[in-house]
Amino acid sequence: MPISHYPVIARAHTNIALIKYWGKANEKLIIPENNSLSMTLDNFYTDTSVQFSQSLTHDELILNHQLIDDSTRITKFLDLVRKRAGINFYAKVESINHVPTSAGMASSASAFSALAAASSKAAGLNLNFKDLSRLARRGSGSASRSIYGGFVEWKKGTNDSNSYAVSIQEHPIMDIRLITVILNRSHKRISSREGMKRSVQTSPYYDAWKKTTASDLQKVKNAISKNNFNQLGQVAESNAMKMHALTLSAWPDFMYFKPDTIKVINKVKSFRDNGINCYFTMDAGPNVIIVCLKKDSQFIKSNLSKTLKSDNIVVSGPGEGVKFLHKIKSEG
Ligand code: DP6
Repeated sequence: MPISHYPVIARAHTNIALIKYWGKANEKLIIPENNSLSMTLDNFYTDTSVQFSQSLTHDELILNHQLIDDSTRITKFLDLVRKRAGINFYAKVESINHVPTSAGMASSASAFSALAAASSKAAGLNLNFKDLSRLARRGSGSASRSIYGGFVEWKKGTNDSNSYAVSIQEHPIMDIRLITVILNRSHKRISSREGMKRSVQTSPYYDAWKKTTASDLQKVKNAISKNNFNQLGQVAESNAMKMHALTLSAWPDFMYFKPDTIKVINKVKSFRDNGINCYFTMDAGPNVIIVCLKKDSQFIKSNLSKTLKSDNIVVSGPGEGVKFLHKIKSEG
């Protein structure tokens, strides 16, 4: 295919891992130490438009209507696409993150997944989902999973060609909801990239993490196929806490918890003590993601709204995989 003479637009949704990716076996190629498993969310997504053009003298990145000065990470990623397509034109990249309010939740998963789809097509490549997942992975590991909707597993593989995500269940049978509780809008101090590197290098528990994560993953896959919500929730919560134990046991130690994080975690436990089946997971930041069933989601949200702003409590269902659009929606 020749390069596109029009901007190519793609939409990708973000995902939340129930079994976490936390550590690389190969940093340059972004090959993970373990398989991970996520759910793609319907409420958080990125729209990205890309056009390569002979008239540009450098890559241009516009994020949420603002021109970004340092686009090194994007240029490095586009270099992979240019190399593969055999072109040397620069590109104009325009990206809009659709997250409720300005939540500081911009996600590298939806960003690189949308960029992989839009840039490869704009460069004239016609990649299948497997190759899109491999490409997205080079931007950010978790982006490999946002190519697909519903439940997704990233198979760690051993090299660039066999490390990619696959669909586990595109339309989940389980009536699952993930409630994102946004507690802090400021930028995180230790990125996931830096945090996982430090954990691999210094936590004495890293080997135990790898072993138990492999069995946690099997249990979650089992829970998905048997529609066993409690098993899924228990294993996801325990897996997230094991990931955070790696940060506490690294040197220099670090933690993503804030005082409000602990309050929400305790709240989840008290819901549970009162007979509501819900669990939690957390990524590399202070926000808590509550894992529950649709029937309990509104009760949980309104209960939390007594002490937190309800704008900061977002209920999401399973979202779809990456797709191409004709027009970019302009509201933020
Ligand atoms: C805690 O995918 O952001 O969200 O590959 O270095 O870009 P890089 O890391 P990234 O890490 C995500 C870490 C996590 C867990 C997960 O999504 O599996």
